[in-house]
Amino acid sequence: MKTIAIGVIGAGLIGRKHLAKIAAHPDFELAGIADVNAEQVAAQNPDARVFADYRAMLDEARPEAVIIASPNQLHAQNGIECARRGIHILIEKPVTDTLETATALIEATKAAGIRSLVGHHRRHHRQVATLRSLLNEGRIGDLVGVSAIWAVHKPDAYFSAAPWRTQAGGGPVLINLIHEIDFLRFSVGEIVAVGAVLSNRRRGFAVEDTAGVLIEFENGAIGSFFVSDSAVSPWTTEQGVGESPEFPFSGESSYRFMGSRGALEFPNLVQWTQASEAPNWNLPIQAQRIHAPTLDPYIAQLDHFRDLVRGEAASLQPVEDGARTLIATLAVAEAAASGQRIDLRERYGAC
Ligand SMILES: NC(=O)c1ccc[n+]([C@@H]2O[C@H](COP(=O)([O-])OP(=O)(O)OC[C@H]3O[C@@H](n4cnc5c(N)ncnc54)[C@H](O)[C@@H]3O)[C@@H](O)[C@H]2O)c1
Repeated sequence: MKTIAIGVIGAGLIGRKHLAKIAAHPDFELAGIADVNAEQVAAQNPDARVFADYRAMLDEARPEAVIIASPNQLHAQNGIECARRGIHILIEKPVTDTLETATALIEATKAAGIRSLVGHHRRHHRQVATLRSLLNEGRIGDLVGVSAIWAVHKPDAYFSAAPWRTQAGGGPVLINLIHEIDFLRFSVGEIVAVGAVLSNRRRGFAVEDTAGVLIEFENGAIGSFFVSDSAVSPWTTEQGVGESPEFPFSGESSYRFMGSRGALEFPNLVQWTQASEAPNWNLPIQAQRIHAPTLDPYIAQLDHFRDLVRGEAASLQPVEDGARTLIATLAVAEAAASGQRIDLRERYGAC
């Protein structure tokens, strides 16, 4: 079958990762790269056509599909220009920077009839697919709640290299928690309300370094989340799965799902159950490990994007779904600032 001509907009940290995966993928052929740092990017990619202007890349290299890996503020305009040209998009998370720009992008993709996929790569892990099946088949009964942690210590250079990370929007809620919110929406169900407390006590930046979040799901389950980028721990999904070499493997679970008949740890997929039909706190509880193979989620994401572009699969996450993850994540900061519980149901209606 013919290969798919693909372009990449933005060859920074994640763009370079996508370029490496494309180079090793048999079903894609790199048509061109667009980056304002064209000279440097051309030196790093001597065999590629590199453009400083992404519109020139779209018009001259004529890709059938594009990966948008530019800064968040550019996602919407990049995506809209692709839609106008009938080009399918894999757009990095967050889908856009604001709800307004997300709405404009959603309208453009619908009007053009292009296919879209948001780069919440965690959806492509086999452990996630296995967790979803276990929860759906009622292995732990009805889900009562989930308790989760995402805590690591980012080095000082992370902030000095990019001072925007010290300001609103640059903290662990919008950069890191958004992946977890998306994972929870995907594995448990829709989030209907959030409440939160933020703290900047450790670093003293304008943006939070730590947060506690309360989550209500449509199915009645309750979630609590502790997130921090100034605490040392082995408990993040990145460390637990070992999904990339930047985050050394810990093999530890950072999620605990609790149901009416048992519990499940993630990503280790340890299932806890009692031998009796009638759950009872006086009975012993046993653990069973469930196996799911570990694979590179960025390659699995590319496989899915290929199927989507070829019209052989429905998108695991079109832009309108990415907008819901953005809405729920933005509401965390708003809930903390206002001290109010934020109900999301009406907001979802906007996209
Ligand atoms: N899915 C993931 O695991 C993951 C990980 C990191 C980043 N991201 C997301 O990917 C996006 C990029 O993040 P990053 O960390 O790679 O940022 P980065 O700053 O390292 O890279 C951005 C690149 O875009 C280029 N750029 C800027 N303006 C441009 C323009 N007008 N046209 C073309 N190129 C332009 C920059 O020169 C830079 O090379 C963000 O949306 C981020 O949230 C996703």
